[in-house]
Amino acid sequence: MRSETPVVSSLGPADPLAGRRVLVLISGSIAAVKLPLVVSALVQRGALVRCVLSPSAERLVSAVALASLSRAPCHIESDQWSHRAARPLHIELAEWAEVVLVAPLSATSLARWVQGLADTLLASTLIACEAPVLAAPAMNSAMWAAPAVRRNWRELQGWEHVLPLEPGSGLLACDRVGDGRMAAPELLLLALESLVLAGCRRDWRGRRLLVSAGPTREPLDPARCLTNFSSGRMGVLLAQAARLRGASVDLVHGPLTVVPEWLEGLRCHPVVTAAEMEAALGPLQGGADAIAMAAAVADHRRRAPQAAKLPKQALTDALRSDWEAVPDLLAGLVQRRPPAQVILGFAAQSGEVLEQARAKFARKGCDLLFANPIDRTDAGFGAASNEGWLLGPGERQRPIGSTGKLALAHELLSALAEVMALRAPVQATADP
Ligand SMILES: Cc1cc2nc3c(=O)[nH]c(=O)nc-3n(C[C@H](O)[C@H](O)[C@H](O)COP(=O)(O)O)c2cc1C
Repeated sequence: MRSETPVVSSLGPADPLAGRRVLVLISGSIAAVKLPLVVSALVQRGALVRCVLSPSAERLVSAVALASLSRAPCHIESDQWSHRAARPLHIELAEWAEVVLVAPLSATSLARWVQGLADTLLASTLIACEAPVLAAPAMNSAMWAAPAVRRNWRELQGWEHVLPLEPGSGLLACDRVGDGRMAAPELLLLALESLVLAGCRRDWRGRRLLVSAGPTREPLDPARCLTNFSSGRMGVLLAQAARLRGASVDLVHGPLTVVPEWLEGLRCHPVVTAAEMEAALGPLQGGADAIAMAAAVADHRRRAPQAAKLPKQALTDALRSDWEAVPDLLAGLVQRRPPAQVILGFAAQSGEVLEQARAKFARKGCDLLFANPIDRTDAGFGAASNEGWLLGPGERQRPIGSTGKLALAHELLSALAEVMALRAPVQATADP
C-alpha cells in the first residue's frame, strides 16, 4: 500500500478535495467506463482514493487501471474473503472513507442498498458507510422509469447522509435517447466538492431559485459586439449548488465560458443580449422564491445595430455615436418583485470596493449585495476563487476572504435562505 500522501492539487491548498479520503464504489453499468477518468481527476486534485468494483463492474472496467490511477489497490469481490485480512474489508473501507461516491449506481445495487441486503463487498460497504455518500445512478430509461426503481430512488431521497444526483437525459448505450444517463464526470467532481463543502443538506427543497449568469453581447454590426470578461462561473455554480441543496433552478445565461457539463440538471434559458435577458427573466420572476442576479449585463448598446458589417474607416465614427444605456435589469426586478421574494445582486468593482458597494446597495434596493474586485487575477471575472463584501439587511456588512467560487456560492445560498426564512414563501412551488 502506498503512503497516504496526496499527489497534487490543481487548485492549490484551497481545493476542498485535497487530502480527502474518497471511497469510489463502482457497480455494473456500462457508465463504469467513465470512472477511471473521475478517479484520475480526484488524484490530480490531491484526494486519497480507494476503489471497489462489484462483480459485474469487474467485467466492464479494469481493476488494474483503477489501481494504477488511484495509486492504491482496487478491491474486488474475492478480496472480501481473504484470510489475510485482520478485519472485515467492508468495515475497514467504510470507516476509512471521509466521503463516498457510488457511481454508476445500478438498479441492483440501489435495491440492495435500500433493502439493506449486504450480500456483496460493494453492498455491504455501502450499508456500513456513515460518511456522506454521493449517489449517481445509471441505467436504461425503461429501467429508470420502472416502479421498483422509482420507489427505491424515492426512499433514498429521505436519507440524511446521501446526496442523490439524478441521472440526465441523452443517448444511452442501448441506443435509446432518454433519462438514465449517469451525471457527467465533471458534474460528479463538482458534486463531490459540494458534498465536502456543504454536506448533504437539502435546505432548498421545495424552493425555486432564478439565477442569471454570464455576460451579454450587444451587437454593433454582424461581426462585432460590446461585451465583458464575465465567464458565468459564479452564477452557474450558484445554480448548481442550489440544485444540489434541493432547489428547482432556472438559469438565464449569456454566452458562457464554463465547463458545459456544469449545466446538467438546470433549466437553462440561453440568451445573447440584455434585451433577451430581460425578456427571459420577466415570465420566470413570479414563480421564484429568490433571485440571484450574477449576470454581468452590458451597460450600453447600439440604438440600432448595423445590418451590414461596417468598413474599418466607418468604425471609429460608429463607436462614437448612437449608443444608449441598457436598462438596469436588477432595479427592474426589485421594482416588480412579489412581497416575499428575496433578491441578491452582484457588484463588480475596481479600486475601493466597500464604499462603492454601499452606495450601490442603497440605490438598488435588493436584499443582499455581493461586491467583489475585478481588477485582480485571483478574484472576480473568470477566476476560480473570489472574495469581497456581502451587504445585507440592517446595515449588515460582512467581509468574505478569498475562497473558491463553489464555497462562496454555498455561503451566498445560506445568506439568501436566512433572509427567506424571515418571510413567507411567495407560493407553494414544486419541481415541474
Ligand atoms: C453490458 C451491460 C451493461 C449494463 N448496464 C447497466 C446499467 O446501466 N444499469 C443497470 O442498472 N444495470 C446494468 N446492467 C445490468 C447489471 O450489470 C446487473 O443488473 C448486475 O446484476 C448489477 O449488479 P451490481 O449492482 O452488483 O453491479 C448491465 C449489464 C450489462 C451486461
